Parts: sequence; C-alpha cells; structure tokens
Amino acid sequence: MRLILLGAPGSGKGTQATMLQEKLSIPHISTGDIFRSNIKSGTELGKLAKSYIDKGQLVPDSVTIDIVKDRLLQDDCKNGFILDGFPRTIPQAEYLEDALKNMGIALDVALNIHVEDSEIIKRMSGRRVCPGCGMTYHLIYNPPKENGVCDGCKSGVIQREDDKEETVLSRLKVYHQQTEPLIEFYKAKGKLVTVEGQDKVEDTSKEVLKALGKA
Ligand code: AP5
Ligand code: MG
Repeated sequence: MRLILLGAPGSGKGTQATMLQEKLSIPHISTGDIFRSNIKSGTELGKLAKSYIDKGQLVPDSVTIDIVKDRLLQDDCKNGFILDGFPRTIPQAEYLEDALKNMGIALDVALNIHVEDSEIIKRMSGRRVCPGCGMTYHLIYNPPKENGVCDGCKSGVIQREDDKEETVLSRLKVYHQQTEPLIEFYKAKGKLVTVEGQDKVEDTSKEVLKALGKA
C-alpha cells in the first residue's frame, strides 16, 4: 500500500505510522525524523533544517523534495510506503504525483487525521520521544511503562526542541496556511480519507485500520 498521512502537527501521524509499519510491513518515512537525525549527527542538511525547524517554519521544498526522491528509490519501498509529514505544500504534492508517475506507480490513499488545535497544544506539551529508536510517548495519554525510559530500547526519553508552546503556535499557523490546502487537493483526486484523531490512541488506530480496509 502506498499511503500518505496528512494532519496537523501533533495529530498522531507518527504514532499511527509506527502501528501501520508493523501491521502492513512497509517502511515508515518521516521527513521530520530524517531532519532530526541529521541535526543530531551535525550534517550540513541538519544545520540548514534546524534553522527552519527551530522557528516552526517549513524547510524549503527544494531540499525536502530531494530527500524524499532518494528515499523512495530505495529497495524497501518496492511494496509500498507510509509517508509521514510529506507532502506538506502543494508544490511537494505535485512533485510526488510526477515522481510516482515516472516510477509507474500511484498513491493509494491520503489519510487525514483530524484533531482540533486546542487538543494539539495539550498533546505537544506532554510529548516525549526516544532519541534511541524514535518511539513517541505522552506523559499522560501514552506514558512509557517505566517513568522516563523507552519501553523498547531503554534510552531516556526527551522533549523535542520544537515542542515549546510558542513554536507549536507557529507550526499550527504554518499548517493551516500551507498544508491544510492538501486536503482539497487529494479530495479532488478521489484519494482522501479522513479519520477522527481526537480519541485515545487505540481507538484512533482502529479507525485508521477500518478506513484502510485492514481492520
Ligand atoms: P514533523 O516531525 O513531521 O512534525 P509535525 O508534522 O509537526 O508532526 P509531529 O511529529 O509534531 O506530530 P505527529 O502528527 O507525528 O504526532 P505524534 O504521533 O508525535 O516535522 C518537524 C519539522 O520538520 C516541521 O515543523 C518542518 O519544519 C520540518 N519538515 C518536516 N517535513 C517537512 C516537509 N515535508 N516540508 C517542509 N518542512 C518539513 O503525536 C503527538 C503527541 O500526542 C505524542 O505525545 C503522542 O503520544 C500523543 N498522541 C498521539 N495520538 C494520540 C491520541 N489519539 N490521543 C492522545 N494522545 C495522542
Ligand atoms: Mg511525527
């Protein structure tokens, strides 16, 4: 299955993608995760990306598109992929259409996870991530079994730098201006499926699987 996940920052794209990756045995590709791993290892790409991410702005399309282009050509994408956080602008979506057409394939579904802004702000302040394996937690809604320690790889969990409240507000603004128009873009192509993402993680996962016909 070739799938993209749409939704505001904090809507649960990463959380659901982790579940789907296991269930569907296809890779989870998060442009945000790719940028964060480059920031961590201090590459030129990481330095450039950080200057935008820290302000809650989007990394320029030209940079982001090149990364996705390389990633989709890798072998593990042959049977499908879950794109999380890409596309995020109309030019990125148009690029993706062209690139897939050139590869002789097409997108199956654009899955949009809908969550109100007020809920997003609550989620971001409590989010914790594992710097070791990338697992996502929430202090209240989805805590690790042992306080502060990743269930899987046992690293100490940390708060993401762009989860400070003022940065979250600019990310939400950028989402509404630049990314939300993609909902209409995919609706017009007959590819859009929207699920309500306000419920508990497990309930949202059930909705997602039902919407994809995999329940
Ligand atoms: P990215 O990492 O993609 O950030 P984002 O889209 O802002 O999304 P998040 O990762 O913050 O949220 P999520 O939807 O994955 O939610 P999560 O599952 O963690 O991008 C970071 C930055 O990189 C961008 O701001 C931009 O600068 C740049 N970038 C990335 N891609 C780009 C592109 N294509 N073009 C240009 N720039 C790009 O869940 C959030 C929290 O809620 C967690 O704590 C989780 O445990 C909890 N939670 C999840 N689901 C539920 C639930 N159902 N109930 C209760 N709590 C829940
Ligand atoms: Mg994410």
